[in-house]
Amino acid sequence: MSISSLEREPLVAIDRLTKRYPAAATGFGKPKAWVNAVNGVSFEIRSGETLGLVGESGCGKSTTGQLLARLLEPTSGSIRFRGRELTTLRAREVRELRKHIQLIFQDPYASLNPRHTIGSILEEPLRVHRIGSRAERRQQARDMLETVGLDRSYAARYPHELSGGQRQRIGIARALMLARPSSWRMSLCPRLTCRCSRKF
Ligand SMILES: Nc1ncnc2c1ncn2[C@@H]1O[C@H](COP(=O)(O)OP(=O)(O)OP(=O)(O)O)[C@@H](O)[C@H]1O
Ligand SMILES: [Mg+2]
Repeated sequence: MSISSLEREPLVAIDRLTKRYPAAATGFGKPKAWVNAVNGVSFEIRSGETLGLVGESGCGKSTTGQLLARLLEPTSGSIRFRGRELTTLRAREVRELRKHIQLIFQDPYASLNPRHTIGSILEEPLRVHRIGSRAERRQQARDMLETVGLDRSYAARYPHELSGGQRQRIGIARALMLARPSSWRMSLCPRLTCRCSRKF
């Protein structure tokens, strides 16, 4: 396959994606009601593109992001990532996918473990995927702090010792910790954007 045809291929292609939740049962023998959190959504994202999902509260934006990151099982529809169907992946394959799709959480304070130092929080994705030695992980976490404009000494601080904006940067830094030329492809930002990146 030529480079130009690879660039034309969508990084992500979502087709008629649906997520339905059972609502509270209406009573014995009666049919259940359903909540259509996402109802037949289709879109494509190419490498280097940024997609913003805009809509009223409760229209299914966060659910779409969670489906894309395989944090939720779709009721029906297809999610293809670099040509590969994600809805049928096994647990081990979903784990591998996590190296390529990262989430930046909406509420940085709630998503950062208050008992862990910033250094430990940033090292965690590397620990989970068994990347590097302990010293290398420590080094990469401190390098990432500089990348997001914070002093390396922040590695020793706890989340409550940071400002809201600094915590937001830690959330972004954590999502970028697995960013390596061959691995990182996409980050999902609730409230803000769904961003696909080229290699860097
Ligand atoms: N676990 C669940 N069980 C039942 N209904 C759910 C569940 N999760 C979400 N919903 C419903 O699905 C719909 C879509 O929710 P979602 O969180 O995706 O909305 P959203 O577009 O992100 O909204 P907001 O802008 O307020 O964040 C909402 O009506 C919500 O009440
Ligand atoms: Mg939401």
